[in-house]
Amino acid sequence: MRHLLTGFEFSKEEYEDIIDTASKMKANPALYSDTLKGKSAAIMFEKPSLRTRTTFEIALFRLGAHGVYLDLQSGDLGKRESIPDYARNLSRWTDCLVGRVFAQSTLEELAATGSVPVINALSDLYHPAQAMADYMTVKEHLGSFENVKLAYLGDGNNVTNSLLVAGAILGVNVTCFCPLGHGPDIQIFNKASEIARKHGCTLNVTDDLSLLKNYDVLYTDTWVSMGDNTPLDAVKKIYMPYQINAQTVEASSAKIVMHCLPAHRGFEITDDVMDGDKSVVFDEAENRLHIHMSLLSKLIKA
Ligand code: CP
Ligand code: NVA
Repeated sequence: MRHLLTGFEFSKEEYEDIIDTASKMKANPALYSDTLKGKSAAIMFEKPSLRTRTTFEIALFRLGAHGVYLDLQSGDLGKRESIPDYARNLSRWTDCLVGRVFAQSTLEELAATGSVPVINALSDLYHPAQAMADYMTVKEHLGSFENVKLAYLGDGNNVTNSLLVAGAILGVNVTCFCPLGHGPDIQIFNKASEIARKHGCTLNVTDDLSLLKNYDVLYTDTWVSMGDNTPLDAVKKIYMPYQINAQTVEASSAKIVMHCLPAHRGFEITDDVMDGDKSVVFDEAENRLHIHMSLLSKLIKA
């Protein structure tokens, strides 16, 4: 049994296979309508979601399976009964647990005590299925991962960590431009860097925007992640130099601009860039669906 908890679980070949299968499913979804016939998954979310929840539910439906959404936004997980007992109950009825949680340790506990695959649908540390859909989108627009240079601008967060992990595994060069003290998780960065060395690519973190030259991809995410109660206006001063706008697009020579969404227009990205001809943000959003179909069919035994 395999889980997707961090993104470190899969090899380069497996990442490529997940992305290629997602592309085939995108081209011909009807061919896969019985792939998981009669199966089911619990979709347990402690935080809000538009894209991830919707695409997991539709992915299950398109594969012939059923998704049961469990709204855990009022903080129920581990309160009414323990996390292990949640996992043990749900493992008797379902074939997979998809979890969006505050703490990565919650997913690890579900995986350790349940008996079905667990998929991370975003935690404090990772958003691995997002990164898979992002690199699928990069491949669609740039043709391959060879010599691709991706620049991430803004807050070093769960999305940044997963872009580093998946980038290292797929051989993509990733540089994070983040204000001092707001970079990605250092342990995840170091572990991903070891993989990058073996795969002939490099990972970097810097606060120096004068180095933003000759990149293929520009990527950003919110400056305030879910669970952080700092008002968006309050962080403006720290992050505004890292905003993706016409100047940063021009300076970087980027061919495509990405954002995992939801976007805070006028903060991490300007309207003209988000709606401009280099923006592929809605391709990314669409690809969440195809990647989830591919992932679910890989992890759930037919
Ligand atoms: N990108 C993403 O995960 O979006 P949601 O929070 O809407 O699921
Ligand atoms: N970093 C953001 C990603 C949202 C999809 C958050 O955790 O809120």
